[in-house]
Amino acid sequence: MKVTKAVIPAAGLGTRVLPASKAVPKEMLNIVDKPAIQYLVEEAAAAGITDILIITGRNKNVIEDHFDYAYELEQKLLANPSKKPMYDSVHGVADLANIHYIRQKETKGLGHAILQAKAFVGNEPFAVLYGDDVIISEEPVVAQLCRAFEKYGKSCVGVKECTREQVKKYCTLDVSPLDGNVMSCHKIIEKPTEEEIMSLYAILGRNVLTPDVFELIENTPVSEKGGEVYLTDALSYLAEHDGLTAVDFVGKRYDMGDKLGIMQANCEVALTHPEIGDKFKAYIKELAATL
Ligand code: UTP
Repeated sequence: MKVTKAVIPAAGLGTRVLPASKAVPKEMLNIVDKPAIQYLVEEAAAAGITDILIITGRNKNVIEDHFDYAYELEQKLLANPSKKPMYDSVHGVADLANIHYIRQKETKGLGHAILQAKAFVGNEPFAVLYGDDVIISEEPVVAQLCRAFEKYGKSCVGVKECTREQVKKYCTLDVSPLDGNVMSCHKIIEKPTEEEIMSLYAILGRNVLTPDVFELIENTPVSEKGGEVYLTDALSYLAEHDGLTAVDFVGKRYDMGDKLGIMQANCEVALTHPEIGDKFKAYIKELAATL
């Protein structure tokens, strides 16, 4: 079944990037000239997704404004023929996909955020793009996961090998090879201790899930480790009982919920940016020589 719906959880408090995220949602922090969440919507649209539900919360209204028309600004840009490309880029953001919104009234974790999408999703498979994980890749990672979903018919998670320190902050997967970069996942542990680490693969930012995940989340208790409803607990149940596919996706992932991640994203995207790339490269070389 073709995946046409996506969910972007973007209701988190972003405590790791305070004070920047006090009034501006971390999903709206920019990479060169676009907010992080626009990269996600562009990725989903490029993968054939037509309908996207963004899970928002209090203080996140600017996300809706960004994906709406901006009449006054657009009329001003249109009045000046040299600003037509700018008009196109501003106006086009609103037409990337049908974007829907729902508020998560309490920030009770990623699992709880995804649960808010139950009515939107209905009985179809759907993609999940974590709101602060920007992945730059030739083929959209959502499309890479959809391919594995269509082939194996199981819910599917995007994974990457991480350092032991990162794995302890994210999760660890027990996997066995299937085909190329596609693996079968048998178990997941969220925020493992050193002894619990099963592999250095962790889930990073993208899933394609079947709707039976909602019932599993509803039956997931609040975690004693973090006081949140972890999506990982429901995914681990799928892995142990129904089967779960893991794709070691091709792409560079940036954690926009982390100060270093934001700087890495801006630096690397700026180096290849058509407008400022050359000048920025010269600046970085000059700067590096002084370090
Ligand atoms: P994170 O755990 O990275 O977000 O969730 P956070 O809670 O904002 O992080 P801290 O405070 O810096 O530690 C990954 C994605 O899930 C969303 C976040 O907005 C982020 O895009 N999320 C997280 C929700 O939508 N609701 C939640 O309750 C938690």
